[in-house]
Amino acid sequence: MITPLAKKLGLTMPVFAFSKAPAVVAAVSRAGGMGVLGAVAYTPDQLREALDYIEAHCDGKPYGVDVVMPEVYVKPGDNVEAHIPPEHRAFVDRLLREFGVPELPAGEAAWHSLLGWTEETVRPQLEIIFQYPIKLLANALGTPPKDIIDRAHDNGILVAALAGSVRHAQRQIAQGIDVVVAQGTEAGGHCGEIATMVLVPDVVDAVGQIDGRPVKEVAVLAAGGIGTGRQMAAALALGAQGVWLGSLWLTCAESDVNAEVLDKLLSAGSGDTVRSKALSGKPARQLKTAWSDAWDNPKNPAPLLVPLQFVLTAEATTRIHRFASDSTTRTKELLTSPVGQIVGRMNQVEPVAVIMDRLRAEYETALSRVNGYGQF
Ligand SMILES: Cc1cc2nc3c(=O)[nH]c(=O)nc-3n(C[C@H](O)[C@H](O)[C@H](O)COP(=O)(O)O)c2cc1C
Repeated sequence: MITPLAKKLGLTMPVFAFSKAPAVVAAVSRAGGMGVLGAVAYTPDQLREALDYIEAHCDGKPYGVDVVMPEVYVKPGDNVEAHIPPEHRAFVDRLLREFGVPELPAGEAAWHSLLGWTEETVRPQLEIIFQYPIKLLANALGTPPKDIIDRAHDNGILVAALAGSVRHAQRQIAQGIDVVVAQGTEAGGHCGEIATMVLVPDVVDAVGQIDGRPVKEVAVLAAGGIGTGRQMAAALALGAQGVWLGSLWLTCAESDVNAEVLDKLLSAGSGDTVRSKALSGKPARQLKTAWSDAWDNPKNPAPLLVPLQFVLTAEATTRIHRFASDSTTRTKELLTSPVGQIVGRMNQVEPVAVIMDRLRAEYETALSRVNGYGQF
């Protein structure tokens, strides 16, 4: 299972794990894959603490970091609050009242709203990240800025970017990235409309050249809807050099999701997600709940653009998570999480090491079954 990219990065399994939980990142790296820390919601101090934890617990194995460097940033000094229409604020208040969501206690602050989404905040994150011996820097949205790619390369770090279409992948390759994460619509979080089964081979075929010109070797990872070794085997057969998994880690033993979210994820089926702008203003796959239903209802105000929807809903999201366990209210009905269609297979809590062993065993079984069919 050692693909050229896995070899280059020193992995024994070409499994890349996106997670915002440092314990998951370290556990996947220890198990021979590559944990990638999702940094978007971290303040600089929290980020340092998370990276120190990973350094201390990854047994010297390679790990990476994922940041959000949008192509259009909120500029320093922009007053984003001023762009939020009053009827949107009134709608959020009405929704919270309808479900009886309590107010935050005095002195308790709402979560972040912008953090890694602005140039002002992501650049300080990068200053910290470059102080650690990471092996991969990934970007969630769009093409990373050229100066960041060059600096990563100067530090011996490979740069990855998520792409939901061939056009996105080509733009990223032209900018000099090393790894395209071809992410299908089945994926949790922001996603496009093309399924992994169609997208991966199209991106694999497209990466070798741009506008007819050959480019340096770029590896493709398959993402979206992968949670078993059988699906890994399929991804490698499609031409990917590894798989990039996000949802699966939400329900592992090392995950840090709250108890009510965990409960919802474990009982959800593959048809219980929706691609909606409710979370961020950009289409993102998430659990279908009263929150997404409300925002997707054409009778209600439409979600705002990124990053205004975050700013508008930061306090509401904090309150919903804080009070989801309060059974005297209907708060839990509004509780959601980004997650992909693979949620239907996330039915029990297992440690990362067990999941990695299972992926390996299933991959080998799938391979020998297919080999057993012989040649046509
Ligand atoms: C809870 C959650 C949060 C995510 N946040 C980010 C993010 O901040 N940056 C990013 O590059 N991808 C993010 N993603 C997408 C993952 O990196 C990954 O591409 C996706 O989960 C793969 O599909 P899967 O969910 O079917 O495994 C997120 C996914 C989930 C489930």
